[in-house]
Amino acid sequence: MSRVDKFNPLAKGTAIDQKRDLIRGGTSGKAVIEEPRFEAIRKEAITLGLATDVLYPMSAGKEATIFLAKWNDHPIILKAYRVWATPHKLSMTKGHIRESSGKKTRWILGLLEDIAVKEFDVLQNCFKAGVRVPTPISRVANYLTMRFIGDGERPAPQLREVELEDPEAVMNEIFDQYLLMYRDAHFAHGDLSAYNILWWNCHPWIIDVPQTEAVNKWSDMNRIELILQRDIYNVLKYFESYGIERNPEHILKVFLDAYIPENLRNYKELRNEGIELL
Ligand SMILES: Nc1ncnc2c1ncn2[C@@H]1O[C@H](COP(=O)(O)OP(=O)(O)O)[C@@H](O)[C@H]1O
Ligand SMILES: [Mg+2]
Repeated sequence: MSRVDKFNPLAKGTAIDQKRDLIRGGTSGKAVIEEPRFEAIRKEAITLGLATDVLYPMSAGKEATIFLAKWNDHPIILKAYRVWATPHKLSMTKGHIRESSGKKTRWILGLLEDIAVKEFDVLQNCFKAGVRVPTPISRVANYLTMRFIGDGERPAPQLREVELEDPEAVMNEIFDQYLLMYRDAHFAHGDLSAYNILWWNCHPWIIDVPQTEAVNKWSDMNRIELILQRDIYNVLKYFESYGIERNPEHILKVFLDAYIPENLRNYKELRNEGIELL
């Protein structure tokens, strides 16, 4: 993971520095970070070379807004992380930070950039491992672009919005995909549900990965196990509406049998009583 972007820091300053300076209006004084308007985001994404046009916002979540954008004739997705809805306290004051010093402004912009960096990195690793995720394209500052899953300007529906013909096969495919993500790319998704799976070309596509946890020799495996458990539960919950029932413990075991970092094989011995997620 790295914040390095395609700008040469020596020539023009990084994208964060440029954003901070823009917010401060070219002075060295205090800055106010507020909700950027569509036109400002559009202009910035084009200036940063992420898209040739930004058409409209498709969805606004807690932390990021998803835009339909264009790279010449091709529709792409632009995801913009925002400051006013991030969980850290500084951004809670009515959705924006009043009068931050240049240093603080840069730090806050940096936090946002870190989430975009993480999502891009996870997408890239999952894509390389063969998981069906939107292909990551580019990332600068708090923006990233990825493949648009859909047809023309019509986005693929979320899994919860479709009526599946062969739900059992789809459920198996989702767990196969998730197993690839866990076993080969070493990530636990953390928010897998019928909302964050798109249905496209008769296949499930996993999206929305910024809260993913890396599974490596420094991980807390007890926590990873709980994350896997919750994701498996959420997927099974959706398929219950089709009358399909599976033992979540069995699926969890398949995951854990497929991969546990070498040094953490005995993690259960270190388990505290009454451990709970969050
Ligand atoms: N690559 C994509 N192609 C098509 N639609 C997308 C894509 N990424 C996101 N979307 C749409 O935007 C919605 C929100 O995206 P998501 O990444 O889940 O962000 P969040 O839930 O954090 O707002 C998705 O449910 C989906 O409908
Ligand atoms: Mg989502």
